[in-house]
Amino acid sequence: MEIEKVRQLNSTKRRTMQNEMQLIFNAVSENEAFARIAVSAFVMPLNPTLEELADIKTAVSEAVTNAIIHGYDGEEKKELDASEDKVFLKCTILGDVLHVEVTDEGKGIENIKRAMEPLFTTKPEMDRSGMGFAFMEAFMDDLEVISEPGMGTSVFMKKKLGTSSWILDED
Ligand SMILES: Nc1ncnc2c1ncn2[C@@H]1O[C@H](COP(=O)(O)OP(=O)(O)O)[C@@H](O)[C@H]1O
Ligand SMILES: [Mg+2]
Repeated sequence: MEIEKVRQLNSTKRRTMQNEMQLIFNAVSENEAFARIAVSAFVMPLNPTLEELADIKTAVSEAVTNAIIHGYDGEEKKELDASEDKVFLKCTILGDVLHVEVTDEGKGIENIKRAMEPLFTTKPEMDRSGMGFAFMEAFMDDLEVISEPGMGTSVFMKKKLGTSSWILDED
């Protein structure tokens, strides 16, 4: 098929696509790779570029790692305990925009604004760089964090794929 036709088909598909998936998995570090790959596979129908895919994978990794390590204090617990701790991942495709939601029911964040500052970390002893939120912000188009101490944390991210305008073209 001519390249122009392929382009047109891709852009029509992107504008009209609607899809959703949800996963619930144990808060263990093995599942960070699982989440990253699951989201990658889910966005494949949108034909993401390698760069878009790398951005999405990094952002999902950071959010899921935070849920496991900070939300549930992952690595300080025994493996068995962790089976009670779940991470909730929801992905929606609306047109050419991917929405990702990562939720934990862990300890929550007291000061969200401070937590989101580059280099801020409450676990310097674990070699955390404090750059997780900064990466999510840089690699996605939108980032929102909702958290309540003792209740848990939700991270909402959006990424627009492709180069068309945020505002739908008029046909
Ligand atoms: N899901 C979460 N639950 C509780 N605290 C969190 C969560 N995500 C992030 N935080 C807090 O925000 C801080 C900054 O997160 P981040 O930017 O990813 O840096 P890092 O993970 O390297 O500490 C963490 O050190 C932690 O205190
Ligand atoms: Mg982090």
